[in-house]
Amino acid sequence: MKKVFSYLRFYWMQVIAIVVLVFTQTMLELELPDYMSDIINTGIVKQDIDFIYTKGFQMLAIALTVATISVITSFLSARVGSGLSNKIRKDLYLKIENFSLIEFDKYSTASLITRNTNDVQQVQMMITMMLRMVVSAPLYAIIGFQKANALNSSMSWIFAVVIPLLVFMIASIFTFVTPRFERVQKLTDKLNLTARENLTGIRVIRAFNAQDTQADKFNGVNIEVRDNNTILQRIMSFMMPGIMLIMSFTTILIVWVGAEKINTGSLLIGDMMAFLQYATQMLFSFVMMSMVFIMYPRAAVSGKRIAEVLNTKPQIIDPDQPVQAVRGIGEVKFENVCFRYPEADEDVLHDITFTARPGKTTAFIGSTGSGKSTLVNLIPRFYDVCDGSIKIDGVDIRAMKQSDLHDKIGYIPQKGVLFSGTIASNLTYGRPEASQEELEDAASIAQAKDFILEKEGGYDYLIAQGATNVSGGQKQRLSIARALVKKPEIYIFDDSFSALDFKTDSALRKAIHEKLSDATVLIVGQRVSTIMSADQIVVLENGSIAGIGTHRDLLKNCPVYYEIAASQLTKEELA
Ligand SMILES: Nc1ncnc2c1ncn2[C@@H]1O[C@H](COP(=O)(O)OP(=O)(O)OP(=O)(O)O)[C@@H](O)[C@H]1O
Ligand SMILES: [Mg+2]
Repeated sequence: MKKVFSYLRFYWMQVIAIVVLVFTQTMLELELPDYMSDIINTGIVKQDIDFIYTKGFQMLAIALTVATISVITSFLSARVGSGLSNKIRKDLYLKIENFSLIEFDKYSTASLITRNTNDVQQVQMMITMMLRMVVSAPLYAIIGFQKANALNSSMSWIFAVVIPLLVFMIASIFTFVTPRFERVQKLTDKLNLTARENLTGIRVIRAFNAQDTQADKFNGVNIEVRDNNTILQRIMSFMMPGIMLIMSFTTILIVWVGAEKINTGSLLIGDMMAFLQYATQMLFSFVMMSMVFIMYPRAAVSGKRIAEVLNTKPQIIDPDQPVQAVRGIGEVKFENVCFRYPEADEDVLHDITFTARPGKTTAFIGSTGSGKSTLVNLIPRFYDVCDGSIKIDGVDIRAMKQSDLHDKIGYIPQKGVLFSGTIASNLTYGRPEASQEELEDAASIAQAKDFILEKEGGYDYLIAQGATNVSGGQKQRLSIARALVKKPEIYIFDDSFSALDFKTDSALRKAIHEKLSDATVLIVGQRVSTIMSADQIVVLENGSIAGIGTHRDLLKNCPVYYEIAASQLTKEELA
């Protein structure tokens, strides 16, 4: 919560204004019972109509002032609350944007979303409420007690009876409620996670008739949330009636004891009424405080979850003194690289050494899970190597600014990702200033030109959210074109031809070979036909290099490669 409270410093002027206003409001409200007691004692009992009028109007004026101030403070505290949550959300977003994949693996996406929405909302509600209660509640309690005591100290024992009663009730509710709130917040994470999974996987779920299993999964969490919330509501539903009961009990007690004293002449009737009001204001302040106390644990949990994200130091950061960026030739050099995923038990890559030269194509092949994607993902520093180094034009990538590094790389992921918007906006993603001509060039290399023109509106065709209105192969080709528009020094194609038919695949490779004759091209492939023309092929097996060379060399010298090739090519092609 400390972290969250620290955001209040941005609104210190409003906060001070709220404190001053609430103070004035409370002090004025605490005056009202005195006026009433005067009206009764002097006005009604002695039948002085003029006095009733003057005092009555004064009371009215105070009440109006109180109402006005109350509106202003509500307004101000709402503004502080929503401004603060806006700022927290912005900071969270900026922070998350700088997360490396390590942090994304650590927090789940669902949890990051909940933290950025629901948790921030909890905090906002808490702050808005607290801003108003934190000053007024103690004032009501202390001054209310003082004033009541000053009116008639012989009745103060009543407080000694009811206050402990009230505190006991609130405290017992408190102990039941707090752990439940924590639970609910965690469950919200889980609920979001399951909902997301259900929605993104809807096609597979349908195809496998798994609606019931998924629904059960969702229901399980949903029921748990419901049960927790029901219990919370049930406990809380005792609160208001309980408080009312105690208040009524207090009123009866005061009137009963007061009547006796009025009878004997030791108490004025107006004073009893004032006493009653002070008592009510005081007890009510306890209720207000208890509301804060009950909400606090939940908001504190949320605050902690927010702070956790804000305090996370991304593990992959820019060096203090980055090497000046220059446009090089794009030579990529792996030297004895070892890598292990955080939290994993063993290395996925062992002692990888090779050089990918500019103007040449370096291909990677190996069975699934052999570490091909992992290897190429190390180049944009999605993860850092555990041992060894990766150098581009002789500079360790960890010595560069990440943005400079990323400028050098055109990355086409294994799973094509497009953003909602037009085809053109997706293609210019890496270089917004690219001209239409450049777009068309890139599209034609990526073999995307024809299908783009067939779409309604061509380059202005709208890609739906999740890119559901383009096919898998079209998505891949647009991802490729997007990287080409960027004109980087190094291209990384992670299995980006997998969804293409053989004809398109070969046309694309030919175009890449011709048009990208200066660039360093790294291609991960499953098909031997896709990579056999590469200048250099790296064969991976269980994270180690089983052989490096051309197709011809490897067929002769690398049994692992021969095996892969034999399973895909005909006898004639192998010979
Ligand atoms: N984020 C991750 N955390 C932990 N382990 C991972 C992670 N990503 C991949 N792995 C593991 O690393 C190994 C290599 O995975 P990788 O994705 O590099 O294989 P690949 O060669 O690209 O396979 P494919 O041909 O199927 O794409 C696998 O055993 C995989 O389970
Ligand atoms: Mg892969």
